[in-house]
Amino acid sequence: MNVNEDSRNGASNEEVVKASNLLSKMTIEEPARLAVKGRTFSVQYNLPRLPVPALEQTLNRYLDTCRPLLDDEQFKTTSEIVQKFKEKEGPELQKLLEERATKHTNWLSDWWKSVAYLDSRLPVVVVNPGFYMPRQNFRGKQEQIDFTARMIAGLLDYKIMLDEQTLPVDTMGGKPLCMVQHYQLLNACRIPGLKKDTHVHIPPTDSNQPRHITLIHNNHIFSMDVYGGQGKPLSIAQLRAQIQSCVDQSKMPAAPVGILTTMDRSSWGKAYHDMVKDKTNKASLENIQRSILAVSLDGPLPQPTDGSDVDMAAGISLHGGGSKVFSSNRWFDKTLQFNIGEDGYVSANYEHTTAEGPPVIGIMDHILNFLEKKKDPWLGAPDVQPPKRLNFNLTEKVKQTISRGLDDIDSNVEDTMIRALFFKDYGKNFIKKVKMSPDAYIQVAYQLAYYRVYKQPCATYESGSLRRFQLGRTDTIRSCSSASLAFTQAMDDSSVDPATKVDLLRKAVQSHRQYTDYTVSGQAVDRHLLGLKLTALESGRDIPELFMDLAFKESTHFRLSTSQVASQHEAFLCFVPVVPDGYGLCYNPREEQLIVCITSFNNSPETNSEKLMDSLSQSFRDMQKLLVDNSNVGN
Ligand code: COA
Repeated sequence: MNVNEDSRNGASNEEVVKASNLLSKMTIEEPARLAVKGRTFSVQYNLPRLPVPALEQTLNRYLDTCRPLLDDEQFKTTSEIVQKFKEKEGPELQKLLEERATKHTNWLSDWWKSVAYLDSRLPVVVVNPGFYMPRQNFRGKQEQIDFTARMIAGLLDYKIMLDEQTLPVDTMGGKPLCMVQHYQLLNACRIPGLKKDTHVHIPPTDSNQPRHITLIHNNHIFSMDVYGGQGKPLSIAQLRAQIQSCVDQSKMPAAPVGILTTMDRSSWGKAYHDMVKDKTNKASLENIQRSILAVSLDGPLPQPTDGSDVDMAAGISLHGGGSKVFSSNRWFDKTLQFNIGEDGYVSANYEHTTAEGPPVIGIMDHILNFLEKKKDPWLGAPDVQPPKRLNFNLTEKVKQTISRGLDDIDSNVEDTMIRALFFKDYGKNFIKKVKMSPDAYIQVAYQLAYYRVYKQPCATYESGSLRRFQLGRTDTIRSCSSASLAFTQAMDDSSVDPATKVDLLRKAVQSHRQYTDYTVSGQAVDRHLLGLKLTALESGRDIPELFMDLAFKESTHFRLSTSQVASQHEAFLCFVPVVPDGYGLCYNPREEQLIVCITSFNNSPETNSEKLMDSLSQSFRDMQKLLVDNSNVGN
């Protein structure tokens, strides 16, 4: 199959060579080097470095978090193993880790990028989060094109703030945060490798800035300029004309090359390795990698056979819906991708290597606010180059890989169960009124909901930001605690009086908030333990017994993987569970509403998103009732 052989729309040889030369300039930037001048990075160099916590503190906290998950005998064994580690290998590994910390801006960030992302051979479709946007007010192809033009204009409006470094510094609890993640969402892409992937990013300081986006329609992939002569952004009318031109050239579906980006990374890496031997393929792939972002124009939302339209739309944001829906109409390696349906359903998908959800939400919130304005912000640009269709020459071997990819994605889609809960009885305001941390309260509700279904607690992961530190990413807030277990056990026990239940609830919330404070100040357990383990591996030592112990396995088998990603809008992020028998819960706590998207795998007989959603709604209701009936607060 020779995809898009029409050379009139393809890249010329000269362009092929030019694109290849450009790629050689692309590097994985040491992001701190971008922190030069301007408001966005004004405090960047004053941010502290990520500390290495004290060994004894981490080991004590580790034991505390293991306690609710272990019986007495196992806890005794684990305590002995921890004690041995504290006396034997621990101090030496700690010393080596502290030495590493003196040599790196952030001792964790490079390791994390590799271990959590680039080394992984799982398809990115399992790892990339999706972002569901509230349904927009357009219907049909022409209105879809018009909306897409305005959405891209909103993105360019945001990009001006990035390029001019006028984006205000984010803060958390009044403290400034590292801003580097914002800079790595655009002009960026993951590239599959045979054993390990790489990631490219063209920083705003590079003199050779990309002027194009990747536009995908009916599986055809276009390089579409969004800047014209003198580097001016295109007006909405000009963008509309560009998109229309792409749509006009892609009435019939093309070969599903994009499906390769849904595959396990070794299969895609092998196919990529073959493809780049061909000059046309190489130029097309490099063009995609260099583009600002990808935009996919989809058809209408398919009728859901299970769950609601919103659940279906969330699924489309995550995986594209399967081989017969929109999964081939994607480039999942692109760090940021918008998916625009024909009937007002709009979503995004992002590749996780360089950034967490909050900077993505920053872009999406900006665009949603921009869309409310009716005026075209720019007069237009001179010398607009028409879009170019990107061509691919596919060998028999690559075609076979594509066929396999089409089957694999359907299994992935069938396996994923998504339920979006819009809980409207109350939101953050009520929780603040009862003087509790909203995030901690929601986490305790997750513990109760899970306990009610399974009659036991489970290891729970919440992402806690490390962005107070230079190049900071996340650490794990271990949400399951002895205090949360005491509350969940008492809540449905009729022998416990309500005042005691309120007291246990408050203690559980406080305990969670306390662990959150440890985490965001770089004093949590998981990344430190990871650092010690990687230090052992890199220095050729044996892996200490602590990491082989059942308690370590149990306490890192996160059946609940959760993350708060707040948006100003009725929107939410979603991601799949991190273990086969677990759940993914991503939530947007709003003033008067709690939005939670719950995912699970249908292949697991033990999990069911709908069941957990029902239990969670009931837990939210019961916790409110308990507090209202037993304190001086109205609901
Ligand atoms: N009484 C009244 N109000 C309280 C309170 C109490 N006891 N405790 C907290 N609050 C208030 C806070 O002051 C804050 O007020 P604001 O809305 O005016 O800012 C609000 O409630 C929210 O605080 P809280 O719910 O405690 O959470 P948080 O905002 O500190 O967030 C995390 C906690 C863990 C979500 C945050 O630290 C974090 O790390 N976020 C990033 C997560 C991430 O990266 N996710 C993406 C992964 S892809």
